[in-house]
Amino acid sequence: MKKFLSIALIGVMMLGMVGCGGSAPADENADAEASSSLTITEGKLIWGTNAAFEPYEYMEGDKVIGIDAEIADAIAAKLGLEAQVENMDFDAIVPSVQTGKVDIGLAGMTIDEKRLNNVNFSDTYVEAGQAIIVKKDSGIKSSADLAGKVIGVQRGTTGDEYVSDEANGVGAASVERFANGPDATQSLLTDKIDAVVIDNEPAKKLVENAEGLVKLDENLTSEQYAIAVAKDNEALLEAINDALQEMKDNGELQAILDKYLNA
Ligand code: ARG
Repeated sequence: MKKFLSIALIGVMMLGMVGCGGSAPADENADAEASSSLTITEGKLIWGTNAAFEPYEYMEGDKVIGIDAEIADAIAAKLGLEAQVENMDFDAIVPSVQTGKVDIGLAGMTIDEKRLNNVNFSDTYVEAGQAIIVKKDSGIKSSADLAGKVIGVQRGTTGDEYVSDEANGVGAASVERFANGPDATQSLLTDKIDAVVIDNEPAKKLVENAEGLVKLDENLTSEQYAIAVAKDNEALLEAINDALQEMKDNGELQAILDKYLNA
């Protein structure tokens, strides 16, 4: 208890110092006070992610960097909080938001019907879609050629859902579910699977980072990324939407996207 109090005090002192720096807007300290009840741990915005999804979140040494990491930092700063990342399997993120293990899910996560049963989503911050990665000499030229093929996906993603749902008519011989995209492309490189279906921008990075792979131009889906928040935390959802709106209005969000997405 004592330890927690002194940590909280240091946090308050640090916020005070930021306030004295002169660059922070006048209402930031008010925000900081109001936000103490927004999150699971006072002073912190704990974001759950799966950091194998370049350019949205990936490891550089022991640090999680990328678009979502910068968005987490920016939102936290606006709320007078300190962002703290929890790296986990992608399919653990929504349950972790639900049970309060993390405050938000920020993971290039698509707004999706099933997830909406369990969490709320913020306003959207990126448009995305599923893309196909194959080996250069594969002969697979479009989604029509995926019929009868073994397709790799990241477990629990919208790519997984799209390929696995027979209603979409992909006609895969089977679907191999991997812990992350890099594991899937590794399997593709060693001919254990025929194609990988994964989000468009991460697909570009996976191809850049490996020899002998190509991303097809076709997009299979049209998706919106947003931040997942617990159903019972309307206040945090609102605060996040306000912060996002500010970042859209002042160009901050676009600057982050431009930094990581090559045109
Ligand atoms: N957009 C897809 C989805 O929501 C994939 C997200 C994967 N994210 C990650 N950090 N691995 O299902």
